[in-house]
Amino acid sequence: MPALINPSILSADFVNLERDLQAIAAADFVHVDVMDNHFVPNLTLGLPVVKRIAEVSPVPLDLHLMIEDADRWAPEYAALGAASVTFHAEATQAPVRLARELRSRGVRAGIALRPASPVEPLLDLLPEFDMILVMTVEPGFGGQSFIEGMLPKIRRARRAIEESGADTWIQVDGGVARDTIGRIAQAGANVFVAGSAVYGAESIADEIAALRGLADSGADANA
Ligand code: DX5
Ligand code: ZN
Repeated sequence: MPALINPSILSADFVNLERDLQAIAAADFVHVDVMDNHFVPNLTLGLPVVKRIAEVSPVPLDLHLMIEDADRWAPEYAALGAASVTFHAEATQAPVRLARELRSRGVRAGIALRPASPVEPLLDLLPEFDMILVMTVEPGFGGQSFIEGMLPKIRRARRAIEESGADTWIQVDGGVARDTIGRIAQAGANVFVAGSAVYGAESIADEIAALRGLADSGADANA
């Protein structure tokens, strides 16, 4: 499967969000980071803003919920027109029940792991999830540097997915850029979130194309 490139609007200009959404029309999804200032020490946007983003975005929405009480809130986000809703494993009491509920509402169900959370508890449950999000920075802020120690976690997840025959995607979020994306792809990820790399680039369209090319070839470039 070709690499998917999902720019994160956390690094966009929130006053010019529609313009910055149009700028990533060549991407696969737009990654929308919802933060509640409790699960992470930062606050971004909530239901009404996500709803408007879904109405104007040229590409489908990939929601990343960094919020407490995901069991209560994630289904509300699923009703807004997103293609994919990812909640954190650390913020749910019942991940399988929540994923099934999201799927029943017609969205892809993703489960995210902080860097210190192990992937092993999920490996017998792969068919229940459409995507595992391996965080490669501590969630909360853009522009942090990639945690190299996460590559083995991605490899273990990829191996288990292949063994199980499940069609679960592996997304990586945090520090994805030209100088890291190739080895992340080689480790087995197929969905790449990039915030500062895309929105900080001179040409957003060229950056998306460059990241896609590097991911597909499994090669790193010097950024
Ligand atoms: C961080 C967010 C990321 C963020 C990534 O908690 O989940 O989506 O935008 O930013 P970069 O790509 O700059 O590391
Ligand atoms: Zn994110």
